[in-house]
Amino acid sequence: MKLIVKENKAQASHVAAELIKEELNSGGKVFGLATGSSPEAVYELLADSEVDFSDAISVNLDEYVGLSADHEQSYHYFMHQHLFQYKPFQASYVPDGLADENEEIDRYESILKDHPIDLQLLGIGENGHIAFNEPGTPLDSDTHKVDLTESTIQANKRFFNHEDEVPRQAYTMGLRSIMKAKKIILLAFGERKAQAVKELLEATKADPDSPATVLVDHPDCTVIIDEAAASLLAE
Ligand code: F6R
Repeated sequence: MKLIVKENKAQASHVAAELIKEELNSGGKVFGLATGSSPEAVYELLADSEVDFSDAISVNLDEYVGLSADHEQSYHYFMHQHLFQYKPFQASYVPDGLADENEEIDRYESILKDHPIDLQLLGIGENGHIAFNEPGTPLDSDTHKVDLTESTIQANKRFFNHEDEVPRQAYTMGLRSIMKAKKIILLAFGERKAQAVKELLEATKADPDSPATVLVDHPDCTVIIDEAAASLLAE
């Protein structure tokens, strides 16, 4: 695992945006994308750049169950607002939060089979989740429906008017689905991510209680963080 520590989120996001452009320029076609505050600045840099994703494909990690694509807190909406309206892809896939569970899981798995991911962008939860693979998720999981943990509901309630509105379930790519990506970039910013970052970088083997540690077995994973997220790492 490669580690890049930058002074702040802006500098770290610049590095990530450049790596994404490099991947596109060197023939990468399928980009696995994340939502949330971690990739926001990366998308802003890409949106303001000359990059052209019109021959590329995007596949998002996850979506809340029960939210329609036009709901302001859906991940469909987030992607449109932050990236797709400025930089359209040839095709963009996000799980459908309103679809039937079995049909959606089959549909998403076949999308992933048809479009193997060249570069996957990830954030990390305070509890070590990646996508919505919460602690305890089997390491060999594919796309599935999850019950969100209380910690994730609490972390996400800032985006909703009231805690009761935060969806309790999501569709997510599984840990095995994520590990199939050829390259992975994980972003983490701020002190509240420091513990999860420490567990990831100090892990010697994958531990289902801290799902991001599955990445220790990935052959090409770059972790890009700011100094605050690095604050618990040994000197
Ligand atoms: C979002 C996702 C989540 C987030 C994680 C961190 O698509 O898969 O795993 O990456 O919850 O969220 P932020 O970046 O908002 O701190």
